[in-house]
Amino acid sequence: MPCFIAPSLLSANFGRLAEEIRSVEEGGADILHVDVMDGHFVPNISIGPLVVEAVCKVTRLPVDVHLMIEKPERYIADFIAAGANRLSVHVEACTHLNRTLAEIHRLGAQPGVALNPSTPLSAIEEVLEELFQVVLMSVNPGFGGQRFIPSSLKKIARLRGMLEQRATQSERPIWIEVDGGINAETAAQVRQAGADILVAGHAVFRHPNPAQAMAQLRQA
Ligand code: DX5
Ligand code: ZN
Repeated sequence: MPCFIAPSLLSANFGRLAEEIRSVEEGGADILHVDVMDGHFVPNISIGPLVVEAVCKVTRLPVDVHLMIEKPERYIADFIAAGANRLSVHVEACTHLNRTLAEIHRLGAQPGVALNPSTPLSAIEEVLEELFQVVLMSVNPGFGGQRFIPSSLKKIARLRGMLEQRATQSERPIWIEVDGGINAETAAQVRQAGADILVAGHAVFRHPNPAQAMAQLRQA
């Protein structure tokens, strides 16, 4: 099973973002995870399309934009124009999920859906075929550096089961991305439960050596 490491820029030093990006690229990151927060869906405010555009200009990695915003359909065109390769919306924030995912696809990006820890997997059953990835939140979204919620492990395993059943009908993989509280210890647990993509903010960017931090996650 492939394992992808996606450092989350939320914990990077924004005063030297280009250097931070270069350090994780050189250290073997597979994906760059970018967190967009609006102060409504989550209590925090982070960045918008302008910064995403600047990020996309200085990296060759796929840019995975996680929209923690209400009514994300209002901004998907802006983020894709800014260069986002993958765009995930929260199921809790999106009334017409099917339409929004189709629009992300039509505009040329890979659609994903993110689920809060309290949101059941049944919320995405009807849109699985539209998805490139499912983002399972293992903390309540809004801030970096929070503690991993242990019940996420069973949820990852159940989603893995759901996707395996589906795999008999389709060749295309749907990735399971786990976001929040990932460190060397929890990385091993979420991998065992069936995660493909590990998002890590604090564990990578608050480590004195991001390359070493990513190697530790991969080893786990
Ligand atoms: C949380 C964000 C995460 C965050 C993860 O709301 O969606 O991507 O940056 O950070 P860590 O790895 O520090 O929990
Ligand atoms: Zn995120």
